[in-house]
Amino acid sequence: MVLKMVSYKEALAAGNTYFSNAKRLERTEPEKAAMIYLKANRELVKASTLARTFDEANFAMNKAEEAKTRAKKLTKKETMHNGESNNSALEMLLEEYIPNTTFSDVAGMDDLKHTLEVSVIQPIIYRDLYPLYAKGSIDGFLLFGPPGCGKTYFAKALAGELKKQLEKNGEELHIYKISAAEILNSLVGESEKMVKKLFDEAKKHKPSLIIIDEADSLLKTRNDKTDYASRIVNQFLSCYDDVRGEEIYIILTSNFPWELDPAVVRRGRIGNHIYVSLPDKSAREKLFEHFLHELNVSKINYKQLAEISEGYTPAEIESICRAAGLYKFHKSIKSGKKEPITQKDIEREIAEKKPMSEMWFEIAEKKMPKHYNNWYNIFTGE
Ligand SMILES: Nc1ncnc2c1ncn2[C@@H]1O[C@H](COP(=O)(O)OP(=O)(O)O)[C@@H](O)[C@H]1O
Ligand SMILES: [Mg+2]
Repeated sequence: MVLKMVSYKEALAAGNTYFSNAKRLERTEPEKAAMIYLKANRELVKASTLARTFDEANFAMNKAEEAKTRAKKLTKKETMHNGESNNSALEMLLEEYIPNTTFSDVAGMDDLKHTLEVSVIQPIIYRDLYPLYAKGSIDGFLLFGPPGCGKTYFAKALAGELKKQLEKNGEELHIYKISAAEILNSLVGESEKMVKKLFDEAKKHKPSLIIIDEADSLLKTRNDKTDYASRIVNQFLSCYDDVRGEEIYIILTSNFPWELDPAVVRRGRIGNHIYVSLPDKSAREKLFEHFLHELNVSKINYKQLAEISEGYTPAEIESICRAAGLYKFHKSIKSGKKEPITQKDIEREIAEKKPMSEMWFEIAEKKMPKHYNNWYNIFTGE
């Protein structure tokens, strides 16, 4: 299966379209406009992450901010107008997530797929059998590791895979995927309510799966027990404990697992910690194949590319392939010939880009708390 790669331009165009549609509806249907602005915000934030230059990123980010500000203003107006908080913008963020990928869209990472198959999928598929062999209910899962290694991508593919496998048993899985930033940013002061709603929704539609992406920004270690951030963590814990043992499964992803509140990631709650590592040589080979598949390439030695790309994340490999492709695209326009992407093009891009995750490892080594099971074995080889 070929992955549809969304480019900066596509995400920006989608964001702009939502933006102008929302603007048109501001006066006549403010509530709807607010929702569409949030969609615009989502696309524009995505565009900013796909941008290839600082200016592009800045442009998309500024527009994303404007969309958010407008959405907030409209929601406030609506709230004042109705006297009571209107929850439709919240509801929009809680739309059920329909995954469009499964494990077959994930290049390489076979060990990780296997780990997830046995530790996440099987206990859920065989949840009648599971309690005969393991005490307690199924803990939540945390996917952690350096940025760009596919945690979000994997969480989505895992959701798709689980949904597909449950469907074979005639069961329907409902999935709620939300990024922590969305909960925090969408509506000021509504985050606790949002967490509660997320669980309520999941409870109404069991079996269900909740994915909280970049969870560290939402579930930070509590310092002052009364501040706003702590109240969100408390809300999460009470919601989580409330649904324990029910058919509600949770996956968190985080680049900064050491920032998560220890009460969240302890055994009995989000107690399964799965490290999403940098791709090994064979995974890198598959990733290059994956990202160049069906493009106009000539004589690519994938083994050799894997050899010289140690330390690069899948996201970086993706951007190397994209850069090489665009280089030849522009050359072809100039020359009027369909010039293929060559080994040299890719090698040049690799030489120009330095892998970025080293910094992450430096911090992780200092900050990773002991309670992350397996971390020390995996990372330090001890
Ligand atoms: N195993 C993989 N196979 C194919 N593409 C991948 C894989 N891992 C990551 N990617 C690509 O890299 C991008 C970044 O991954 P992402 O899940 O956002 O990383 P993280 O959440 O760990 O920061 C994804 O959008 C996806 O296109
Ligand atoms: Mg991510």
